[in-house]
Amino acid sequence: MDKTAANQMWGGRFSAGPDAIMEAINASIGFDKRLAPQDIAGSRAHAAMLAATGIITSDDASEIDRGLQQVLAEIAAGEFTFSTALEDIHMNVENRLREIIGAPAGRLHTARSRNDQVALDFRLWVREQCDAAIAGLDALMRAFLVQAEAGADWVMPGFTHLQTAQPVTWGHHMLAYVEMFARDKSRFQDARARMNECPLGAAALAGTSFPIDRHMVASALGFDRPTANSLDTTADRDFALEFLSAASICAMHLSRFAEELVIWSSAQFRFVRMSDRFSTGSSIMPQKRNPDAAELLRAKLGRILGATVALFTVMKGLPLTYSKDMQEDKEQVFDAADNLLLGLAAMEGMVSDLTANRAALEAAASSGFSTATDLADWLVRELNLPFRDAHHVTGSLVKLAEDKGCDLPDLSLTDMQNVHGEITDAVYSVLGVQNSVASRTSYGGTAPANVRAQIARWKEVLG
Ligand code: ARG
Repeated sequence: MDKTAANQMWGGRFSAGPDAIMEAINASIGFDKRLAPQDIAGSRAHAAMLAATGIITSDDASEIDRGLQQVLAEIAAGEFTFSTALEDIHMNVENRLREIIGAPAGRLHTARSRNDQVALDFRLWVREQCDAAIAGLDALMRAFLVQAEAGADWVMPGFTHLQTAQPVTWGHHMLAYVEMFARDKSRFQDARARMNECPLGAAALAGTSFPIDRHMVASALGFDRPTANSLDTTADRDFALEFLSAASICAMHLSRFAEELVIWSSAQFRFVRMSDRFSTGSSIMPQKRNPDAAELLRAKLGRILGATVALFTVMKGLPLTYSKDMQEDKEQVFDAADNLLLGLAAMEGMVSDLTANRAALEAAASSGFSTATDLADWLVRELNLPFRDAHHVTGSLVKLAEDKGCDLPDLSLTDMQNVHGEITDAVYSVLGVQNSVASRTSYGGTAPANVRAQIARWKEVLG
């Protein structure tokens, strides 16, 4: 295309082409070429509707359809030459269509604008990413479920403040992530349901005087219905913001387990061993197995949340309807979606390959006075002490054990009775970590019986 000439698509009132810098800042083809399949699917549905409503002839519509399929094939084969002078994917496709089929190509843009076109293309793309995220989350939840089932009754320390708090079960800890990722999945499902309205037909901003059938286009493209307000339609990017918000929360969850993996796989913890497939070596320290994938997953939220903040900032304060600012929506969302899906796949791989060290988990659970709460509860239950007093007595026993360099079950009955005279040797039954977790049968508690019931429920849900 002649760069000095006015743009073929909108250049009727221009006598000169754009400055090179103007062209560089204006063009989106460098990134929105990713929307080619969506753009062509939308155009095919639009052309079929234009023919069905008699707005164009069916001969023109079938030429357009044939040409669009060829364009798609050329793009898929990597044979398409994208042009910056043609600004974006919409005009690149239409220009090539004209080269292939000639004059009828000019009728495709009847009753449409790039404003509703880009709203459609982008929505279709984000909708696909929701589906991919949902599938990725399903796979990840299944991987956690396998881990939960293998160690439903394995005992490990539960932490608050990363300090040993109370013994919990490995299965319970794994299922905590199933809960988080299930909420993430439902957020993507909700966002998908809300975005599933077809923008095409809003035209530039006000709708069109042509007798279009928006319901036909909507159903051809798998939407529940057309959008109801043309101004809102061309101005709206909520669907992308919702996707990014859901992606951010999901990436935050990924980062939390990633951090646990980093801690747990360290030589000091040894709770888990990451597989060779998801570890890297050090070029200088031969003993090292670095959890690089987990560290990268811990970091991914940085760019995903960054994309979210960026798009909110782009959209803030924009007057209705379309403004070119909105072209800045895509790269952020592309990057966030790519990284989220990669992150979900990587986490699924790591969790599937993960080997928990049952002995190390149990040994850690048994240290750090993890059954102190059980002891306090026993004093309440068996000796009828008020909980505050029981807490105090237990605190003295912990201090005694600490001074003696032992754990609570190692204290003699005489030691215990010196602190509180009514303690009997029945107390020892609650000081073991197995008893401790088995006793936590309140709904949602860590008892293996609860965990097994939850595993059964999740198996049903996940199929
Ligand atoms: N490339 C544009 C974008 O991504 C397409 C819409 C252009 N609309 C317009 N009125 N200039 O937002």
